[in-house]
Amino acid sequence: MREAVATPRHDVPVGVLEGQVTALSGLSVSLSGLADFTGVGDRVSILGLDGRETEAEIVAFRGETAIAMPYGSLEGVGSGCRATFSLFDPSERKRRAGGTLLVNDGWQGRVIDPMGRPMDGKGPLPPDGTPQRLHAPPPEAARRARLGPRIDLGVRVLNLFTTCRQGQRLGLFAGSGVGKSTLMGMLARYTACDVAVIALVGERGREVREFIEDDLGPEGLARSVVVVATSDSSPLMRREAAYTAMATAEYFRDQGKSVLMLMDSVTRFCQALREIGLSSGEPPATRGYPPSVFAELPRLLERAGPGAVGPDGKAGQITAMFSVLVEGDDHNEPVADAVRGILDGHVVMERRIAEAGRYPAVNVLRSLSRTVPGCNSAEENKLVQEARSDLASWDEMQDMVRLGAYRAGNDPKVDKAIRVAPAIEDVLKQSRNERATLPESFEALARALVPPPQAAS
Ligand SMILES: Nc1ncnc2c1ncn2[C@@H]1O[C@H](COP(=O)(O)OP(=O)(O)O)[C@@H](O)[C@H]1O
Ligand SMILES: [Mg+2]
Repeated sequence: MREAVATPRHDVPVGVLEGQVTALSGLSVSLSGLADFTGVGDRVSILGLDGRETEAEIVAFRGETAIAMPYGSLEGVGSGCRATFSLFDPSERKRRAGGTLLVNDGWQGRVIDPMGRPMDGKGPLPPDGTPQRLHAPPPEAARRARLGPRIDLGVRVLNLFTTCRQGQRLGLFAGSGVGKSTLMGMLARYTACDVAVIALVGERGREVREFIEDDLGPEGLARSVVVVATSDSSPLMRREAAYTAMATAEYFRDQGKSVLMLMDSVTRFCQALREIGLSSGEPPATRGYPPSVFAELPRLLERAGPGAVGPDGKAGQITAMFSVLVEGDDHNEPVADAVRGILDGHVVMERRIAEAGRYPAVNVLRSLSRTVPGCNSAEENKLVQEARSDLASWDEMQDMVRLGAYRAGNDPKVDKAIRVAPAIEDVLKQSRNERATLPESFEALARALVPPPQAAS
């Protein structure tokens, strides 16, 4: 008994602070009476007139007024409604800053919401777990492992032309309807990794269902954790989906696992940050995005990558693919710009290629991985370079050739490209139900580069 009294419990609030809703506008609520003990990022609970409690997060202060945004809907909340904030002792408060999530191995195979609640009707998640910080910093640079060995992505065009190492982070730039979800589903099923963590941020509910049922399928889902915030959820929920997924990936990484993280899309994450920033009174700067978006974005992306080296000299890895929506080839779009600068490579998918029926619709010439050529053998690099050069010649000349304006024999380089390009294009094609390993990919490319015997003319 004495001991129980002598050891203070950190997880029990030392008091509850009460405030009041003074104003409501659009997406934000003004609260009085909380300013002295709360800070940005603190979560408060608002009691609606109907008795429903809504969680909200403080995003700004104006004088003595705290501005909060709700995680759910503000329906039933009016002026004068009560808002409460649980006070913890300083050390506990520091630990809780930004929120924590209890992650458990049993999350694999499940679809969850950004608060860590099940959304798949498969019953409750296993209780307990390891607390993971939602806003954890990336591992310290000095302790962070180097990139791991090559990772087999299971997709030929990526294995060959954006070859990756474990812990590498790539951007996937694509418009809508060019096959992004299909490609992500293939990666989730075929990449040689221990766990896949998939964040679906701001897609419509129908698209989410299609992705989980058709693109991922039962086999992909079995080794994945899927975190979903649909387009109709609040901006805080959409933002949180990215953090919950990242914290989950870090949980598995810290077990020394090779994690594949897929985020679709980082554009929608930035749009959620924009809504939050604007609601808290930040000025719009670049194309409506307030400056805080471009401070927050690298903080999220930097968390993917190699983990810290453990006492055994090993480290887990988060290999990541972040999708960016590009409409109408707008490459000055600020999110695309920012992402390209931060990551270690990019994959560009194009509508023109999809329309021609070549899936996955990756434009090889515009895609690159920064670990190539270092991660390949000399022989593999030679194959890739040769194929790139043939594709470039073909790309440049194909209109002329089709129009009959090119005469065979004018340029041996072009002649060769004309002969091998169709075979290379065939290697780039891959049906959604087919897996292609790294060695198979290079073997297929080597075969394609041997020009077929010239037809007798
Ligand atoms: N690897 C593929 N093989 C054949 N068809 C594909 C492939 N990838 C995409 N498609 C076609 O493209 C359509 C749109 O793909 P989807 O992945 O839903 O695009 P996005 O997510 O970019 O909107 C699919 O319905 C399918 O018909
Ligand atoms: Mg899609």
